[in-house]
Amino acid sequence: MESSVEGILVKIKGHMLNKLKEKILSKKAKIGIIGLGYVGLPLCITFAKAGFRVYGIDIDKDRVEKIKKGESYILDVPRSELMLVTRDRSLEVTTDFSVIKELDAVIICVPTPLYKTREPDVSYIIASVKNIKRYMKRGQIIVLESTTYPGTTEEVMLPILEGDGLKEGKDFYLAFSPERVDPGNTKYDTKNTPKIIGGISKNSTEIAKLLYEQALETIVPVSSAKVAEMVKLLENTFRIVNIGLVNEILLMCGKLKIDAWEVIDAAKTKPYGFMPFYPGPGCGGHCIPIDPIYLSWKARMHGFEARFIDLASQVNSEMPHYVISRTAEGLNEHKKPLKGSKVLVVGVAYKKDVKDLRESPALEIIEMLVKKGADVSYYDPLFSYLKIHSINLKCARFSKETFKSADCVVIVTDHTKVDYNFIVENSKLIVDTRNVLKNVEDRGNIIKL
Ligand SMILES: NC(=O)c1ccc[n+]([C@@H]2O[C@H](COP(=O)([O-])OP(=O)(O)OC[C@H]3O[C@@H](n4cnc5c(N)ncnc54)[C@H](O)[C@@H]3O)[C@@H](O)[C@H]2O)c1
Repeated sequence: MESSVEGILVKIKGHMLNKLKEKILSKKAKIGIIGLGYVGLPLCITFAKAGFRVYGIDIDKDRVEKIKKGESYILDVPRSELMLVTRDRSLEVTTDFSVIKELDAVIICVPTPLYKTREPDVSYIIASVKNIKRYMKRGQIIVLESTTYPGTTEEVMLPILEGDGLKEGKDFYLAFSPERVDPGNTKYDTKNTPKIIGGISKNSTEIAKLLYEQALETIVPVSSAKVAEMVKLLENTFRIVNIGLVNEILLMCGKLKIDAWEVIDAAKTKPYGFMPFYPGPGCGGHCIPIDPIYLSWKARMHGFEARFIDLASQVNSEMPHYVISRTAEGLNEHKKPLKGSKVLVVGVAYKKDVKDLRESPALEIIEMLVKKGADVSYYDPLFSYLKIHSINLKCARFSKETFKSADCVVIVTDHTKVDYNFIVENSKLIVDTRNVLKNVEDRGNIIKL
């Protein structure tokens, strides 16, 4: 008797799996995306454009209202694209999580910051998973895209979702698929960047692969969620370590009186075995300075010290201080102390052409300059106001007067749409932390980092 009941259950569950597959293949599957930021919003549009009904869910009412009006707050998402998918209602947005009841797939794209203690803060993931659990139904697939330490999907999400006896791989499906979006990149976007997928069970990998394959060009399945989580951290660790290395080379070249930028440009002519990384004023953004710390934290839990990550973080965090010392040296040559000098910071975003201030070294540089008594102003075409703790600044005008009146201009972010010839023509002294002036005629007023 019991075995026949079990047999029926296996059949039902097999039927459930096939039903979900059919829904995905016929694009009748409804997809929910939790977290409508740099990652979630482009993903909504990618799935909506592929022919799915997409429901964006966010706790931020302002963001939801903006999307409803077709207003984009993400530079990589043009208003025209957003209008296209909101007008025909292939994308609908809400703050109401009960919509999850209607969905077949739920993808989580919420933030994964660090606590002040530099420990991973997975509370946004936990909050999302608890909301899913409240409304989930059998036969759904849940995918986490937020960058996190290896084990999060299995150790943090799975126990909550299986809480009342549901079984992963049978009653629902769970996978991790890291987002690899590179804001500002005009060649690679959500659709054409290969997508890594690792499920908790084989069924989950299969379903997640099928889902993403309908909207994205290349899918790369791996053997587990843990491997997929680790892939993303390897990629970002590779970047932080190489940035740390090249920053150290720059500091070393400074002592040896060698132009590090020229060295890198020459080294990159080697057609194999070398990949150029560039030094700079510090390592910013939501990913590179933070994600590897997730990994080193997890490694430490297992008694392993991630020495490369720690060293690279340490070197990178010295860079804003180095910018200050180069600025002070330059002013000194002009017989001026930093205290009381007018310093104009050009570019405050963490990287060029991106309207994002998160972890931007410019913020630390401005704070340090203010602390040292400099009279600081800034210019950045992407930010009209800047607030750093108690410092409130209004973007300076891009005018002769602005540059002529500054004792020193510090270029921190190399936005494309800035007239650098004009800056060099009208400034007394410039500290170029990005080598953006390499093709501009030097009038003896440029200091390279
Ligand atoms: N920005 C990038 O370039 C990038 C690249 C790759 C990976 N990632 C990773 O992707 C994840 C998301 O990053 P992002 O840059 O899109 O973040 P973001 O801050 O731009 O967006 C996150 C969104 O999630 C919302 N949110 C927060 N808590 C929520 C909750 N409990 N329920 C619903 N919505 C909630 C926020 O209101 C916000 O709109 C992070 O783990 C990040 O590390 C980011």
